[in-house]
Amino acid sequence: MTATAPHPASAGLATLAAEELDALWMPFTANKAFKARPRILASAKDMHYTSDDGRRILDGTAGLWCVNAGHCRTPIVQAIAHAAGTLDFAPGFQMGHAGSFALARKVVEILPAGFEQVFFSNSGSEAVDSALKIALAYHQARGEKSRTQFIGRERGYHGVGFGGISVGGIAPNKAAFTSQLLPGVDHLPHTHDPARNAFSKGMPAHGASLADALEALVAKHGAETIAAVIVEPVAGSTGVLIPPVGYLERLRAICDAHGILLIFDEVITGFGRLGTPFAAQYFNVIPDMITLAKGITNAAVPMGATAVRGTIYDTVVNATAKGIEFFHGYTYSGHPLAAAAGLATLQLYQDEQLLTRAATLAPVWEQAVHSLRDMKHVVDIRNLGLVAGIELATRDGVLGARAYDAFVDAFFTEGVLIRTTGDIIALSPPLIISEEQVWELVGKVRRAVERQV
Ligand SMILES: Cc1ncc(COP(=O)(O)O)c(C=O)c1O
Repeated sequence: MTATAPHPASAGLATLAAEELDALWMPFTANKAFKARPRILASAKDMHYTSDDGRRILDGTAGLWCVNAGHCRTPIVQAIAHAAGTLDFAPGFQMGHAGSFALARKVVEILPAGFEQVFFSNSGSEAVDSALKIALAYHQARGEKSRTQFIGRERGYHGVGFGGISVGGIAPNKAAFTSQLLPGVDHLPHTHDPARNAFSKGMPAHGASLADALEALVAKHGAETIAAVIVEPVAGSTGVLIPPVGYLERLRAICDAHGILLIFDEVITGFGRLGTPFAAQYFNVIPDMITLAKGITNAAVPMGATAVRGTIYDTVVNATAKGIEFFHGYTYSGHPLAAAAGLATLQLYQDEQLLTRAATLAPVWEQAVHSLRDMKHVVDIRNLGLVAGIELATRDGVLGARAYDAFVDAFFTEGVLIRTTGDIIALSPPLIISEEQVWELVGKVRRAVERQV
């Protein structure tokens, strides 16, 4: 290779022939459609990707809700490079390294009061499975061994582990696996109520009483059988469902009344998406555990985390006199590269005040996304912090076809990355987006959608 030759890993993506795409089974992707017309990203910086054919693509989704500080930020890149050359790996079982302890402390500093420990994993799915296991371990340690059931919510997304899809409520994600889901799981109703709440700005007014379904589930199963309730404070992957005013407070109160742990899955809402470090602070409803991933490292190195109240850690750890207290962990829990990326990311969030920037931008964001109300096909728009869901009418009874076509058109014609689920377009740009780029994003979405039949 000459000095000017491209690195093999980044070379010639545009020239990939169809058969060169064959070997990869792509996740959550229409593989055949993708391989017939690939959408390949080659590089990224700040608010933009560059496609393999050299086009600038405005990132309207922070990757997958995860690149909160924008792409390839220098301090994070440097921290990862330094870690890779200093301590490539350290076992996390019966051994430690300074980075994971330091990151845990930094995360605890921005968590709600009472949260004192963080258990690291590698993804949101693992953070959720860890939380479910911790809930069981906690009740066992307290001598309430009958508390083994979980309550999730319809349309909830908690990753793709068997635990996550069991408590989750997205039907296609479980359809092939229903024979082997966790036993002892029930679901609350979802909170989407377009008849009463369509085009709500911020939190919808109607639906707090939907939380009372938890009382009904407690009556059905018995409080003494229920370990935990898990919900996303704002449901993201299902297409942005904002909690109705008063709803989360009611869930918290019912959990408290029955000794049930409340888990907030903040894999998407964590790290500034709503204008506070975590949604728990935004809503001022404090759960017992918070699951995290994505923005913890600005997505530059995979990492998940399960944050717990000190009482939970103390209860589990003190229940064992000697030896390992909790038989759970991952080879890469607290990996040195992830820890370095996380520390640099949290520093950057602090330096640029990114954890509160969504609060500053929220009024402009709300105005911009609701300016699409007269757009062709639109049936609902909802927003909070720096998140929006734009729901389109379904075309000819084929759920998702219109939004998918808009997504492909947006990428190729408008040069913008959006995310769709069913016929809902979800927008969640990096928190560094400028006001001008907010309007640019919305204009691109409008043109892409209005081209659709
Ligand atoms: C709320 C929530 N929980 C869990 C997950 C799963 O995270 P991962 O894909 O990192 O496993 C996601 C992913 O989008 C999520 O939004």
